Amino acid sequence: MAVLRMWRLRPACPGLSTLLPSRFLGIAPWQVPAGARFQSTSISEADLPRVLITGGLGQLGVGLANLLRRRFGKDNVILSDIKKPPAQVFHSGPFVYADILDYKHLREIVVNHRITWLLHYSALLSAVGEANVSLARAVNVTGLHNILDVAAEHNLRLFVPSTIGAFGPTSPRNPTPDLCIQRPRTIYGVSKVHAELMGEYYHYRYGLDFRCLRYPGIISADSQPGGGTTDYAVEIFRAAARSGKFECNLAAGCRLPMMYIEDCLRATLEIMEAPAESLSTRVYNINAMSFTPEELARELCKHVPGFRVTYSVDPLRQAIADSWPMNLDDSNARRDWGWKHDFDLPELVTLMLNFHSSNTRVARAN
Ligand code: SER
Repeated sequence: MAVLRMWRLRPACPGLSTLLPSRFLGIAPWQVPAGARFQSTSISEADLPRVLITGGLGQLGVGLANLLRRRFGKDNVILSDIKKPPAQVFHSGPFVYADILDYKHLREIVVNHRITWLLHYSALLSAVGEANVSLARAVNVTGLHNILDVAAEHNLRLFVPSTIGAFGPTSPRNPTPDLCIQRPRTIYGVSKVHAELMGEYYHYRYGLDFRCLRYPGIISADSQPGGGTTDYAVEIFRAAARSGKFECNLAAGCRLPMMYIEDCLRATLEIMEAPAESLSTRVYNINAMSFTPEELARELCKHVPGFRVTYSVDPLRQAIADSWPMNLDDSNARRDWGWKHDFDLPELVTLMLNFHSSNTRVARAN
């Protein structure tokens, strides 16, 4: 029988349960309120989390499912979306249709699959959200309410990603601390601040085990972001490998925080596994590197001599980027649960170019 080393938590304040509505009781090892004491122990396969990932066909879901499946077993991690998955995703582990706007169906999935952890990735990103505000409001706000309710009702550990987009022009930008003014000017940002506050509120009001990381722009090789402001930093690598030139939609000097996908996914697993007692807050910034398009292009030129970037600035994306942090202060995450990034700009560029160069070679050979 597979046995995994995890923290088994022992409630230090059993009286807390009397404060909670009965539907939020029945605390599992990974659902103990802040203030509980814990001890290291082994848990059997039967106690492994059963995970549901919503919005699983976006930039991060498949990679996250792969990581969690390696840790908790293939069948314990269910990917979901409203889109039809590509064959290799469908065959790599459990996949279900899940519309987060349909509460009863969401509940059915949680009950039928005995879900204990919910990682909620459905959302419209910054640029695409501005192009369709009412859909963004429905998915990012109404959908989030369903997720919070189903998580509270079934005592789930809930992760919701937040973002640099949760800050705005009146936030300190370099660095941006965990706690500061948050007045974003996009529907995406407003909905993420709402998610942070609602998650914290459910945590204090109902004991919901809510956990949230504010991600920088995430850079991935084999999955694409869907309509964000930081997308240029993903697209530039494929262009460098294929054509040696790139037209950038942000200004040359526009500095934003960025992170390689492997760091992002590992951070997510780490915050989910962190003992509740170690968390001094439920919402953390995480940071890795910070660069401008010009600095990224300079690093790329070391590998692709003659690589040329031209600038055709998109005013909407530029205005959004100008209101976002240049660097996140993630000292609380580093102190509380030992967050540490592995990838800086040189490693990122090498990895991304290796991926795209070998893919380009394969495509040319066929
Ligand atoms: N990558 C996101 C966007 O650009 C930020 O979280 O919208």
